[in-house]
Amino acid sequence: MDDIIFKRRSIRNYSNECVESEDLNYILHAAMSAPTARNSRCYSFIVITNNKIHKKIATIHQSAQMILKAPLAILVVGDQNKAYEGYLPQDCAAATQNILLAATAKNYGSVWCGIYSNKKRSIAIEKLFNLPENIKAFSLVVIGRPIDDNNVIKSDSTWDISKIHYEKW
Ligand SMILES: Cc1cc2nc3c(=O)[nH]c(=O)nc-3n(C[C@H](O)[C@H](O)[C@H](O)COP(=O)(O)O)c2cc1C
Repeated sequence: MDDIIFKRRSIRNYSNECVESEDLNYILHAAMSAPTARNSRCYSFIVITNNKIHKKIATIHQSAQMILKAPLAILVVGDQNKAYEGYLPQDCAAATQNILLAATAKNYGSVWCGIYSNKKRSIAIEKLFNLPENIKAFSLVVIGRPIDDNNVIKSDSTWDISKIHYEKW
């Protein structure tokens, strides 16, 4: 698992290769294995392979243009009625991170595209997918086989001693 955590990087260039259904199930199983506050399991996942929908998403989400080259994306959504107190974003973030790590484990490139805290984007995505009022769009994870070598191990560059405090700030 160590290797996977340190190997993960945002990948935004993909080959035409599809995501195997076995791998997709592994990735979705990992997403559903994320912790949730009071075990609400408020998340759900919309798997999007349709190119026409990819194009529509690209018109809404300026920072998700990589979806135009990707075979698959997963929209992570959360049910406001199921989430414990205000923990929907934390629950969906944990699921999103698990998707990234599982994709890395299966040698796919992936990138987390933020939705939740951007009001305009959230409303447009929720409308596109005709989501019920209580279902909130949280993130879009774009996945494909990488064609660049951005996923080199860069663990040295993430270690930052100044981020660590002992006992007090
Ligand atoms: C909440 C969140 C929102 C993000 N939104 C986008 C996005 O819209 N488009 C994108 O290309 N990358 C997005 N990223 C990926 C970050 O740009 C990336 O994680 C960061 O630059 C660090 O690079 P790394 O993932 O390769 O370590 C997002 C990441 C997070 C955690």
